[in-house]
Amino acid sequence: MTPYIVDSSAWQESWDRQQEAYLPDREHRFAAMLDAVDATVDGRPPRVLDLAGGTGTISLRALARFPTAEVTLVDLDPALLAIARASLADRATIVTADLSTPNWRSSLPHRDYDAVLTATALHWLPADRLSRLYGEINDVLRPGGIFVNADHMPDDTLPELTKRLAARAHSQRAARYAAGAALSWSQWWERAGADPVLGPLVVQRQAIYPTGHSPEWTPPVSWHLTALGTAGFTEVGTLWRGGVDAAVTAVR
Ligand SMILES: C[S@@+](CC[C@H](N)C(=O)[O-])C[C@H]1O[C@@H](n2cnc3c(N)ncnc32)[C@H](O)[C@@H]1O
Repeated sequence: MTPYIVDSSAWQESWDRQQEAYLPDREHRFAAMLDAVDATVDGRPPRVLDLAGGTGTISLRALARFPTAEVTLVDLDPALLAIARASLADRATIVTADLSTPNWRSSLPHRDYDAVLTATALHWLPADRLSRLYGEINDVLRPGGIFVNADHMPDDTLPELTKRLAARAHSQRAARYAAGAALSWSQWWERAGADPVLGPLVVQRQAIYPTGHSPEWTPPVSWHLTALGTAGFTEVGTLWRGGVDAAVTAVR
């Protein structure tokens, strides 16, 4: 019998709690993204690309908001993709692809997305690759389509306050771990590794991401706006800001 994930919604829920320990306002950024999608499609069902979508958090929220949306999710992590496949089933097209090469576009079912959405992911890529990826994202949007990237993006006009905001976030997160309110990143992966279905996929993941986590490269919003402008978008700006994080947006 093919092994299956007994309860993908339980894994999705524990992923969400684990991510929220880092990003307490995570749902606010998703709501801001989906408001921008709504404003872009004027009542039509949107065609959405969830880039580095992991377990499918953005895809699930897009489908809850726009039940007839056409959703594509791209990621490289076999364990997170297994959760995404189980919870999205036939409601999304799931693509395994590596964003560190331009070939990721070759497996996409469309080249005219209304929106490309991504969160807490593109800081895994180095600066030169991310700059090129911004151009490739522009290429898979329809004219007038939008890109939104929510990630750790400090405001470089506020260097001292940024340090204090980061320290405050760190102590709030430590308090959540101490109280058992959420698993840390490494604890979550230990649980996944112990699951009979996810465990072998976590082993595969270790070969794909040998360090297990992202590099600490988090340029400020101004860097992203410059890179997006250079990539050919017609409008670029900040859609949402919270603490040391922000969501930048760009219109093709
Ligand atoms: C912290 S998770 C965020 C996932 C999801 N966007 C969310 O908010 O829950 C970062 C994601 O980036 C993906 N990622 C990192 N580097 C990647 C690459 N080169 N190609 C595809 N996905 C990548 C990881 O596999 C992981 O799913």
